[in-house]
Amino acid sequence: MAAAYDAPMNVDELEREAEAAMAAAVSTDDLARIESELLGKRGPLALAHRELGRMEPDQRREAGRVLHDTRQRLEAVVAERRQQLAATERAAALDADRLDLTEVLPGGLDRGHQHLVTQTRDELEDVFVGMGFEVAEGPEAESDWYNFEALNIPPAHPARGMYDTFYLDLGEPETVVLRTHTSPVQIHLMEDHPLPIHAVMPGRCFRRDTPDARHLPVFHQIEGLVVDRGITFGDLAGTIETFTAAYFGADIHSRLRPAYFPFTEPSAEFEITCTICRGDGCRTCSGTGWIELGGCGIVDPAVFAAVGIDPAEWSGFAFGFGIDRCAQMRHGIADMRALIENDARFVRQF
Ligand code: DAH
Repeated sequence: MAAAYDAPMNVDELEREAEAAMAAAVSTDDLARIESELLGKRGPLALAHRELGRMEPDQRREAGRVLHDTRQRLEAVVAERRQQLAATERAAALDADRLDLTEVLPGGLDRGHQHLVTQTRDELEDVFVGMGFEVAEGPEAESDWYNFEALNIPPAHPARGMYDTFYLDLGEPETVVLRTHTSPVQIHLMEDHPLPIHAVMPGRCFRRDTPDARHLPVFHQIEGLVVDRGITFGDLAGTIETFTAAYFGADIHSRLRPAYFPFTEPSAEFEITCTICRGDGCRTCSGTGWIELGGCGIVDPAVFAAVGIDPAEWSGFAFGFGIDRCAQMRHGIADMRALIENDARFVRQF
């Protein structure tokens, strides 16, 4: 083909160069750019095509066929190269996306752990299980009967004033409550569990209290109940002292001071050596050296009567105290509200 025009003369060379450029393309974007340069409207093939109009018909036919074939071959090369590059890119994207679940980050994983109150409940359970107690649980929503009446607190009893109660909007007004203490679990146990009973009952309790340094409206108690033959106040005092030393340490002691609870008679408040000053007297214990932890006593015959246990054959003691208060005392937490604020700097310490 003589040189009436330039392009077709260089077609072989153009094709070689184009193939080399496409083979060298590093990405589908790169390839698209090369494709538009070579095969686009302003590319060499398009320019050559424009020259055809100036040719003799024979020449034009031949040159047109050459250009057409060249374009087709190059388009096939582009398509094949595009597939290769797309496959490589997809593989790279998948690889980059893969989560390495075995990865160990420098400095260790920032794992969570059980909240201090949960840890405290577990430790308290452990201590009591070690002393031969079972662990039991009861519902958080209770009828008035379980929370009050069966515990010898009839309607209008002044002791109801000790419990600022949340009532649930269920049934007759003021008949279903969020339990104000764990003592109703004693009733469930005495109804359901064969005698004798040696059990502790941890759980969440609710009172309409404004949160302050020593109170939370949602808090935790652990209840204890022993019903057996020949149980005395000495068994109760010994159990409390053994528990106190096991949980708080050998230098912390317990003492019982007369008190009143409707469900025990006699009743006592149970105090431990102040864990802040170790008994010397400080602001936390108002200078007394002792901190109140909970209540206890000998199960009142009226409670046995409510659940049909014969007080001539069986006797028992009960106790109940705050789990949050235990955590507060053992770890010297000045303000109990820290337990529910979820400040990671606080939570991580335990
Ligand atoms: N339920 C009482 C309260 O929350 C604590 C208590 C006192 C529990 C004496 C007992 C007990 O089992 O015998 O205030």
